[in-house]
Formats: sequence, C-alpha cells, structure tokens
Amino acid sequence: MSASPMNVGIIGCGVISTAYIRGATRSSHIRVQSVADIREDAARSQASAMGVGYATIDELLADPSIEIVINLTVPNAHADVSRRILEAGKHVYSEKPLTVSVEQAQALLHFAAERGLRVGCAPDTFLGASHQACRALLDEGRIGKVLGGAASFLSRGMEAWHPNPDFFFKPGGGPVLDLGPYYITVLVNLLGPVRTLTATASTGYPTRRIGSGDRADEEIIVETPTSYSALLTFESGARFTLDASWDVWKHQRSPIEIYGTEGSLLVPDPNFFGDEPKVSKRAEEWQAVDISAFAFGERNRTLRTGREVADHRSIGVVDMALAIKDARPHRASGELALHVLEVLLAIGRSARESQVVEIGSRCERPIPVSPGDNELVFEASNQPHPGKVA
Ligand SMILES: NC(=O)c1ccc[n+]([C@@H]2O[C@H](COP(=O)([O-])OP(=O)(O)OC[C@H]3O[C@@H](n4cnc5c(N)ncnc54)[C@H](O)[C@@H]3O)[C@@H](O)[C@H]2O)c1
Repeated sequence: MSASPMNVGIIGCGVISTAYIRGATRSSHIRVQSVADIREDAARSQASAMGVGYATIDELLADPSIEIVINLTVPNAHADVSRRILEAGKHVYSEKPLTVSVEQAQALLHFAAERGLRVGCAPDTFLGASHQACRALLDEGRIGKVLGGAASFLSRGMEAWHPNPDFFFKPGGGPVLDLGPYYITVLVNLLGPVRTLTATASTGYPTRRIGSGDRADEEIIVETPTSYSALLTFESGARFTLDASWDVWKHQRSPIEIYGTEGSLLVPDPNFFGDEPKVSKRAEEWQAVDISAFAFGERNRTLRTGREVADHRSIGVVDMALAIKDARPHRASGELALHVLEVLLAIGRSARESQVVEIGSRCERPIPVSPGDNELVFEASNQPHPGKVA
C-alpha cells in the first residue's frame, strides 16, 4: 500500500459532510484537502469546524493536488456538479442517488469512461461487516440456492423530528427514493441485478404535521405516494417482495429475509454496517452469524433513539482511492449505482402505470471484501472513531 494519502475535495457542506470528513480522518489512504459549497459561508464554517481547507468551487476544481472530488450536494444538483468534477479531470464519488434520472446517470458514466475517470457512489454500507458476512455465507452456499425473500422498511416518516420535512412528501421524495438505495444496493451485492418488477403505491395521509422546530404544527400537503409494495425478480430467478412505507406506526418485520433451498438468512439493517445477521439450517433454530472477522463492524455512533450502531460512511471513497492506485475495479461503482437508480425509479413508474417494468441496465456484483482482504484493503482506515457522528 502506498504511504501517501490521496487528496480529496468535497463539494457540498451540509449535514452529511461531517460524517465524510470524520471518516476521512480515520483513514491513512485519503486526506481532505479542501471543502467548497455554493454557499461559501457554509464551506468556510465547515472547514474551520472540521480543521480542513476551504476553497471556492472553482479553486477546488483547479487544484492539481486533488484526485477525487466527493459530491455531497442535493440530489437535483448531483448530475451537474459531478459532470463539472469530471470536466476538471478528477474522479467523482457522489452521495446517493447518483442522479435523478437514468438518462443523466448513463450520460455521466459515458462521459467519465471517455476520459478514463472513475465514478463512485454511495451507499457503501454493503462493504461493512454485516453485509459482507451475509455475502460470504450466501456465496458458500450455506442456505443453498436463493429462491426468494422479503425486504421492508416501514415507519411513520420524518415529519415528527425533521424541522423542514416538506421535500420528503413532494414529487422526488417518498420512502423508495430516500431509503431504497440502501436496500436495493445490499440486495444487488448479495444476489446480482434485478431483471423485472411490478409495484403498487398509495398515500396513507393527505397531510402531515411538522413535529419540531420553528414550523412545529404547520401542515404539509402530501404530494407523493408514501407506501409502496413491489415484486422484484432478479436475474438469478429469485423473487423478492419489497414494502416501503411512511404510513406504519409499529411492525415486527425484518429489514431483509432471504429464503434458500437449505435454510433462511436474516440480513440486518442496510443503513448500517455492524448489526448481527442470523441464519437457519432448514427449519432449525436461528443461529447468530459471527461478523467479527470482517472489517467495519464496530459500533461508533449513537442514534437519537439511543441505539448504538456502526457507521463507517466514506469507506467507499477509501476503496475507490485504493482501487485507482492498484488499477482494480472499485466496489461502490457508478454501474452499481445506475442499476440501483433504475430499479428505484422503475418502482415508481410501475405503480403509476400499473405495468411490469423490465430493467435495462445490468451490473456485476462488487468484489467481496473477504476477511483475508481486510488488512490489505482497508488496513489503516479501520481505526476507532475519533468522536460520535451526530
Ligand atoms: N443527511 C443525511 O443523513 C444523509 C444520509 C445519507 C445520504 N445523504 C445524501 O447526501 C446528500 C446531501 O445531503 P445533506 O443532508 O448533507 O444535504 P444538505 O441540504 O444538508 O446539504 C447539501 C449542501 O449542498 C450545497 N449545494 C446545493 N447545490 C449545490 C451546488 N450546485 N453546488 C455546490 N453546492 C451545492 C448546499 O448549499 C448544501 O450546503 C444528498 O444526496 C442526500 O441524499 C444524506
């Protein structure tokens, strides 16, 4: 492994930028050279709070020492900002979603390929211990051939705690586009690409009431479906139901259950890195899966609810930096993100048009991170977290 870290820049200094800057400080492979934002004040104050350099967007893009730029702007700006990064001759790693349309994503990947530049994209939770342990277990055939399963992410949504939750309930919002990237990315990592799907949708409540902040008690008109049920058929033939809703107070369903010819697997929350999977041999009792041999399982963040979780966001960037140096494919790739985006948008389209939708894009499953790879691949980035991420 090279001793010198790769310099990265960050465009977009909002909520998630703190987690990325902290993540980078835990790695000896990348170093945040500077941060920028369309709101220069936001970039200045984040640079000073986090002890990294400040730059205007033009300065950051012109800095020859920066090789990767992380795009942490809002989804509608992703395509334009990522294209500018590529035009500046730099690799781009974007927060999810890669873009807001399949056409934009295809154009971006094409533009990067023409220039020999990389596109990477969040989420990178599938690189964590929970999901890599599940991947190894499936690849070893522990539950036999996967026939199908179920995924669900069900809650009451964001209006109780988020001070400005309007966008969650407008077109472009809704539970599938918000949390779906985590679930579909984990499923594609485990099972390969999706071939077709069909979906239905509904809106549970015509209005929502803001529960916190200056606008508490203000009513929001809901303009997007808030509950979806989809049936996904994977290229492998496996069939999955997916339920996504912000209309549910309480439930007892697992994030992801996978049913094979020789047993079943409970896959933990795809939003985090270190919860414990469970496996059954045929109809026998559930057994906890030991994830300790895999990197990025240690708990380092306390949620509002008090739950301790492992959150190592930014390891996808570290993997991309190492992949560039080693001339190997990176795992949280643009091709994976394009496929995931196409699936998410197809769920909305199928529900609107009452049609089965064929998914046009295909992607390879990312290279697994086996326990033997940990030291080689992630080595110094698997350090204790210097502080809690809010
Ligand atoms: N907040 C989270 O918990 C979270 C979690 C996972 C993923 N994400 C993703 O991360 C991205 C950013 O989310 P966030 O919560 O940090 O948003 P945010 O609104 O807090 O911050 C976005 C920042 O981007 C800047 N920006 C917007 N357009 C820009 C442009 N054209 N050029 C330069 N800067 C621009 C804004 O000024 C703002 O500072 C989104 O894609 C989101 O889906 C957020």
